[in-house]
Amino acid sequence: MDAPIKKFMRTVSGGAKNSAETAGKQYGRSTKAAQRLQESNKSPGYRMKGITMENQQGGMWLDTERIEALKRAKPFVELMMYNRCAIREIETKLRVLDEEFSVRADRNPIQTIKSRIKKPVSIIEKLQSRGYEVTVENMREKLTDIAGVRVICSFVEDIYKLAELLTSQDDIRIVEIKDYIKNPKPNGYRSLHLILEVPIFLSQEKRHMVVEVQFRTIAMDFWASLEHQLKYKKKIENPERIATELKKCADVISEVDMRMQDIRYMIDEVEQKH
Ligand code: GTP
Ligand code: MG
Repeated sequence: MDAPIKKFMRTVSGGAKNSAETAGKQYGRSTKAAQRLQESNKSPGYRMKGITMENQQGGMWLDTERIEALKRAKPFVELMMYNRCAIREIETKLRVLDEEFSVRADRNPIQTIKSRIKKPVSIIEKLQSRGYEVTVENMREKLTDIAGVRVICSFVEDIYKLAELLTSQDDIRIVEIKDYIKNPKPNGYRSLHLILEVPIFLSQEKRHMVVEVQFRTIAMDFWASLEHQLKYKKKIENPERIATELKKCADVISEVDMRMQDIRYMIDEVEQKH
């Protein structure tokens, strides 16, 4: 492990070497704030667990000061920058393919691309829920979805075409493929998920970064967005009924996707004859 990460870990993981002074100095916070952080670690009834606090009842919450410290820590800032660069690389590759397609086939297979970097809180929660210590090293090694690119396509066929063209590029390495279109999730969720490794070229080095790329049709995205919103509604009276309805809608949507693709084939045939 390199020295800056070690230093960062000592401060973030709340170990014995995490003195108020170092914490204050390293992240440019006031010594007062750092002292408060020390005090909160010592307060009776609370136990630091990495970056979260646990009270006597077992309730957990995230320590906001520590999250703020994490956000400013150099190794973390760098990791996020590498991830943003990796997103740019993947987005450019996809836009190039879309552009070429629009000239050769006179239509765009990609409707939109939505990219996101996972929020620090979500990164921490995911590491902890999987039993890993909150370190930059673990973020790099254990998480494959810090950089996420969602590609919304017009037709199912476009998804496979784009995925094939992207993954056959010689600087891309496939880490994992999950085809939830051929094998939908039991709730009806459909998308093609690729975990890819892509190089980014920095001033002094070349780094290989992992990006999660999700391909969906507009219809699949419409379903997934609504299903996602409903999942977070706390008071749902009839969860089984809603799950059944959602599954039915997912199947109808899939049927519509197939029929729209057939319509496109019919139009293409007519065009080729002329
Ligand atoms: P996590 O990465 O922890 O989610 O586990 P995993 O790697 O097994 O997940 P998977 O690759 O199956 O899915 C990762 C992402 O796909 C999620 O973060 C969502 O964006 C999306 N996703 C997966 N399943 C569902 C679902 O049932 N509904 C919706 N709306 N989105 C889903
Ligand atoms: Mg995942």
